[in-house]
Amino acid sequence: MSKPLQVAIIGAGGIARTHVPGWEASPYTQLVAAADVNIDMLADFGRKFGVERLYADADEIFADPSIDIVDICTPNRLHTPLVLAALEAGKHVICEKPLAPTPAEIRQMIEARNRAGKLLMTAQHFRFKGNSQAMKREIEAGALGDIYHARSWMLRRNGLIPTPTFIRQELSGGGPCIDIGVHILDLTLWLMGNPQPVAVTGVARAELAHQKDAWATWRDAPIPSDFDVEDFAAAFVRFANGATLILEVSWLLHHDTEGEDMQMWLYGTQGGSHWPKCEVYSSNNTARQLYNRQLKLTKDVMEPHAAECVAFAEAVYEGRPSPVPPEQSLQVMTILDGIYRSQAAGREVSLNSEEAAHGA
Ligand SMILES: NC(=O)c1ccc[n+]([C@@H]2O[C@H](COP(=O)([O-])OP(=O)(O)OC[C@H]3O[C@@H](n4cnc5c(N)ncnc54)[C@H](O)[C@@H]3O)[C@@H](O)[C@H]2O)c1
Repeated sequence: MSKPLQVAIIGAGGIARTHVPGWEASPYTQLVAAADVNIDMLADFGRKFGVERLYADADEIFADPSIDIVDICTPNRLHTPLVLAALEAGKHVICEKPLAPTPAEIRQMIEARNRAGKLLMTAQHFRFKGNSQAMKREIEAGALGDIYHARSWMLRRNGLIPTPTFIRQELSGGGPCIDIGVHILDLTLWLMGNPQPVAVTGVARAELAHQKDAWATWRDAPIPSDFDVEDFAAAFVRFANGATLILEVSWLLHHDTEGEDMQMWLYGTQGGSHWPKCEVYSSNNTARQLYNRQLKLTKDVMEPHAAECVAFAEAVYEGRPSPVPPEQSLQVMTILDGIYRSQAAGREVSLNSEEAAHGA
């Protein structure tokens, strides 16, 4: 039996392949087409997943009225033109992170989404992990009270992909802030209830990438000399509700970790919590007792990259809001852009959009 929504993927490389099981699992979607400028990559994708309509030019997908959902999995710098074209063609759009590497581009996308009346979602798969969902439910039930401070980081030790689309500013839009900062920051803001960020003090520097013989464990390869993004960033963020956040991200740090250290601590008036341990900490003042509670974890029902596609399909089919709306990605990118502006200015910067546009 054919399913009601037809999906096309643009950019059939690495991450696209993690989305396919989601489109296959959803009762609403059928993956029918793919586009990629790399013909070999496209042919391999078609063979592997039984997709027959393969195009070297994404315009063929936009021109096809039978396509309902476009899934954009290209390098960062191509997200904006492709999202805008897809919305203009009347498609619902899910796009890999970062939705766009600048706040201005995300604003353009929001306007295009409003004109089209379609759904736009950022593929922030960490929200769809079982432990993230369990923590969100706990917070919404009031376990932490008002969250007034957070600490979060995503740190790697020599862990980066030393290819141009990640390490060249003109192709990636930035370094670990843009690549992995979006993951931990999106998850932190979402669990905090997406308070409005108002100011940031940040640093974004390349301290280790330009050292002699610097190398990346991920491809066991040297870091190219044209690396022109940050390798480390740290920030202190203030929110309109008085809450604060300390954030650290890095691809290259002399840190005690194999692979990746991704953590978040949230502190509220009724309790604190740790992700990914999924513990809640509280106390009873009258009884002078401290409590540590392990949340009941539901195992990941589905690999989270696939789960985000299933959630998007359901939202489109049932006419519900986008599971990760671009307005929330705009908050994320406004903070990351603020870190770069603060590094350049050497002081705290305002995140008020008017002032930010004038470089305050
Ligand atoms: N959510 C995650 O965990 C995660 C992990 C890795 C990458 N990503 C994101 O996914 C995106 C793609 O990364 P990747 O690792 O899959 O890269 P990739 O290089 O493996 O794949 C990108 C594909 O896009 C194709 N492409 C380039 N220009 C195109 C165009 N104009 N039209 C159609 N296709 C085009 C390339 O030929 C390539 O096959 C990036 O935005 C990245 O940040 C997300």
